[in-house]
Amino acid sequence: MKNPVLAPSVLSADLGKLAEQVKAAETGGADWLHVDIMDGQFVPPITFGANMVAALRKISTLPLDVHLMVKDPERFVAAYADAGASVFTFHPEATVHSQRLLASIRARGMKAGFALNPGSPLTLAEELLDDIDLLLIMSVNPGFGGQDYIASATEKLKRARALLTARKSAAVLEVDGGISGKTITTAWQAGAEAFAIGSAVFGAKDISGEVKELRRRCSDKV
Ligand code: DX5
Ligand code: ZN
Repeated sequence: MKNPVLAPSVLSADLGKLAEQVKAAETGGADWLHVDIMDGQFVPPITFGANMVAALRKISTLPLDVHLMVKDPERFVAAYADAGASVFTFHPEATVHSQRLLASIRARGMKAGFALNPGSPLTLAEELLDDIDLLLIMSVNPGFGGQDYIASATEKLKRARALLTARKSAAVLEVDGGISGKTITTAWQAGAEAFAIGSAVFGAKDISGEVKELRRRCSDKV
């Protein structure tokens, strides 16, 4: 059994207390930091750019799991590599030549992540599995923190896990959206091993305690 990878999403952090809150997440045992890049086109809000990744790189040694919800993400590979991103995850719905992009992410020394919206079929990833280091299943429609987990994500995670096993893929299976103490066990048992978690972690009074609690809830795999 693998250990869960907990990736608090700084989207929900208080930016005025970013260093302090990131430290609290680290103290609680966070494994990665998830960074949501939104461009106001692929999704409505505009959030951060590569400068946020560079800032986080200075205040934390955790791997930076960068999730780009942007149109034409191929424009940004070099910028995020230079900023210190560990994983560069993009949406195939936002680009045309996904395979070329996956290869170029690896060529710049990052892990290549492939994210699927709730309405996008797993077969998109199936064709490209050899080029994917991380498969991100969205359990909300991307764009906002604090949304409810979409129940159909559980079956999709199970199918994704079965696909990775059948193809002997070592890709990390991550889930993103609506993960909390109420939903994490279900997603974990469905086969997710990495969890992007925004509001549940940074909305908690005790950030480090919440990270510990979320990890505890992954201990029940049967
Ligand atoms: C949503 C983002 C998520 C977001 C999750 O579009 O991709 O990473 O931070 O937030 P919660 O955990 O609050 O659903
Ligand atoms: Zn995300």
